[in-house]
Amino acid sequence: MLSSAKRLFAVASRNVRNFQSSSSVLSDNLFVHRDTPEDNASTPFEFTAENKKRADAILSIYPEGHKRAAMIPLLDLAQRQHGWLPISAMHKVAEILDLPNMRVYEVATFYTMFMRKPTGKYHIQVCTTTPCWLRGSDEVLEACKKQIGIGVGETSKDMKFTISEVECLGACVNAPMMAVNDDYYEDLTAKDTEEIIQALKNGKPTPAGPRNGRFASESHGQLTSLTEEPKGPGFGLQPGL
Ligand code: FES
Repeated sequence: MLSSAKRLFAVASRNVRNFQSSSSVLSDNLFVHRDTPEDNASTPFEFTAENKKRADAILSIYPEGHKRAAMIPLLDLAQRQHGWLPISAMHKVAEILDLPNMRVYEVATFYTMFMRKPTGKYHIQVCTTTPCWLRGSDEVLEACKKQIGIGVGETSKDMKFTISEVECLGACVNAPMMAVNDDYYEDLTAKDTEEIIQALKNGKPTPAGPRNGRFASESHGQLTSLTEEPKGPGFGLQPGL
């Protein structure tokens, strides 16, 4: 009797689909808030006088009734001022936009560009999506980890570097690439990566852009298409037209 019940259970469990009720971890960023000494609602956050003017300029872009559309630019401004985005900065943005705090949490926790824990002076984001991966992003990421001595999602003790592994940053034609704050370093090798990080350590960042001699995203070497003189207007039209 017992063995037939076991058999029945085994057959039934093969036919039951599995549910996943919580989101899988796709980022090393935080998705929940935990009060810490440096990140709690009672730590005041205020925009500087200069950034208040910027916030006013941002708000003026949006018509009355649609001011909440300024949320992402204001969160970005707060992050640029503070270096990362504490919960008190989210509350300030909610106060400016006259929204419940929850509306701001929803946005700040959705976009991985918002860093919700203390972040290094240089935030290194290495793209490991397929085009970059095919062109050697694993070596680039390894070089970062080795050169700085931290893992993905970690910040160096001197608060100089944070490494993140990210999805496509939109520079696939210059793969592999990494972003350091707002700058893109492209067409990288492991050696380039080591040089870039060493320069950052020395406080003398090297110029951003492609590292293989390209100016931008033009083909490397000779043209492979559009090599003839343009044919001029009307080319290929039927004579009767
Ligand atoms: S795949 Fe790396 S930038 Fe697009």
